[in-house]
Amino acid sequence: MGKSTSSTQALLSKLLIIALCATTFFVAVHAADPDPLADFCVADLSPNAPRVNGFACKPRSNVTTDDFVYSGFRQAALSDAEISQTPTGAIVGLTNLRDWPGANTQGVTHARLDFAIGGVIPFHTHPRASETLLVLKGTVYTGFISDFNVLYASTLKQGDVIVFPRALLHFQLNVGNETAITFNTLTSQNPGFLDSVNQIFEPNITSAVIEKSFGIDAATVKLLKGSYPGHP
Ligand SMILES: *[C@@H]1O[C@H](CO)[C@@H](O)[C@H](O)[C@H]1NC(C)=O
Ligand SMILES: *[C@@H]1O[C@H](CO)[C@@H](O)[C@H](O)[C@H]1NC(C)=O
Ligand SMILES: *[C@@H]1O[C@H](CO)[C@@H](O)[C@H](O)[C@H]1NC(C)=O
Repeated sequence: MGKSTSSTQALLSKLLIIALCATTFFVAVHAADPDPLADFCVADLSPNAPRVNGFACKPRSNVTTDDFVYSGFRQAALSDAEISQTPTGAIVGLTNLRDWPGANTQGVTHARLDFAIGGVIPFHTHPRASETLLVLKGTVYTGFISDFNVLYASTLKQGDVIVFPRALLHFQLNVGNETAITFNTLTSQNPGFLDSVNQIFEPNITSAVIEKSFGIDAATVKLLKGSYPGHP
């Protein structure tokens, strides 16, 4: 009797674990921006507008075509010479609702990446978005790392596209002998950007945590903290 009760309990706890896993999977599959309830909701950016999950919509009578057009990618924010002087030789331009209020509630952000020769966008993640990268110019070695620490990486040429699955660690490196440009699309109006290198070395984490995690000594931690480039 006691034995069958405990095996029933074991079965129940197994079922509970399966149910929890299924729930987690369900949540993960549906973790996208909520569907808009109107054709559009051009952001009312005025200081006294109510704040919701995103921005309130400005009156339809105030909406113009310009609200839906973003012109910030016509050129890079810095010159090629300036880009090559940045800490990692690459810069990110991102659409933002201030200059593109028509994107409010549409679940999309775009990026333009500009690389000097050898420039890198260091390891980072976007917790709320899948991302595609299209090479507009040059040759870019890029990839992401999945669970079980598997690397999926490739050298992309002009016109090639890669998708980085939501929230996975990824990076980009210009391996060509010229500057490179990519156009990226992220499936959230607020994808988030976590720079993995900054996340480890910028906060004042007790050295022992980093020492044990990486199998290095205190002096090496100090060296790394002092020498990593500190990304924007
Ligand atoms: C809408 O346009 C009117 C008239 O130009 C202006 O007074 C008002 O501040 C605008 N409202 C918003 C939310 O943009
Ligand atoms: C870059 O590489 C291409 C072929 O890979 C070559 O044709 C071109 O001359 C190179 N340019 C420079 C500046 O080295
Ligand atoms: C970092 O933390 C240590 C103790 O863990 C402390 O002695 C030190 O002053 C802190 N440094 C900064 C810049 O906060």
